[in-house]
Amino acid sequence: MTVPSAQRQPKIAIVFYSKHHGNTRLLLDTIATKHEVTLIDATEPFDGDLASYDLIGFASGIYCFSFHRSVIKFARQHLPEYKKVFLMFTYGGERLKRHFCKRIFNALFEKHAVILGKFGCLGLCTFGPFKLFGGTAQGHPDELDICDAMDFYESLLVILSGAFPKGIIETSI
Ligand SMILES: Cc1cc2nc3c(=O)[nH]c(=O)nc-3n(C[C@H](O)[C@H](O)[C@H](O)COP(=O)(O)O)c2cc1C
Repeated sequence: MTVPSAQRQPKIAIVFYSKHHGNTRLLLDTIATKHEVTLIDATEPFDGDLASYDLIGFASGIYCFSFHRSVIKFARQHLPEYKKVFLMFTYGGERLKRHFCKRIFNALFEKHAVILGKFGCLGLCTFGPFKLFGGTAQGHPDELDICDAMDFYESLLVILSGAFPKGIIETSI
């Protein structure tokens, strides 16, 4: 995707939790190879300030049908009000997927955040009994997932540049 060149590069941060297999981190690292983005580990102490960022992402593997609690807690503690935000996540299976974003959405709504979009894709899960047969979502995120994640991110850049009608982007879930 061709991203229109903005007058000023938008300042973007992504707060993440990705400990199971680094599936979510893989998407973020790929984005960071092409775009300037600050990655913030939600489990590390944070004494920064998100106020100066134009767009803030929250990214996580799905744990017990939700974004990881560290990401939700981070949003409650550090997200300034009325910020533009987006969500990215990886998950091991489709079961109850309509619940995946509920808790993080609640935290974001409390901050009157403007949610520009969300992206989710499968990620290898070897939790518990799934390990016995090699896990669910084997091979994911694959190249196509990574490509879709990049497209999603670049669509956000287009929205930020003002060259695209405002709206919510929803992909893969
Ligand atoms: C403790 C635990 C709980 C999980 N719960 C779910 C779940 O409720 N739904 C789901 O689809 N995947 C679940 N998964 C799978 C992860 O969401 C999936 O592997 C994800 O890609 C992990 O992301 P990460 O490697 O970035 O941490 C769970 C994995 C673990 C380890």
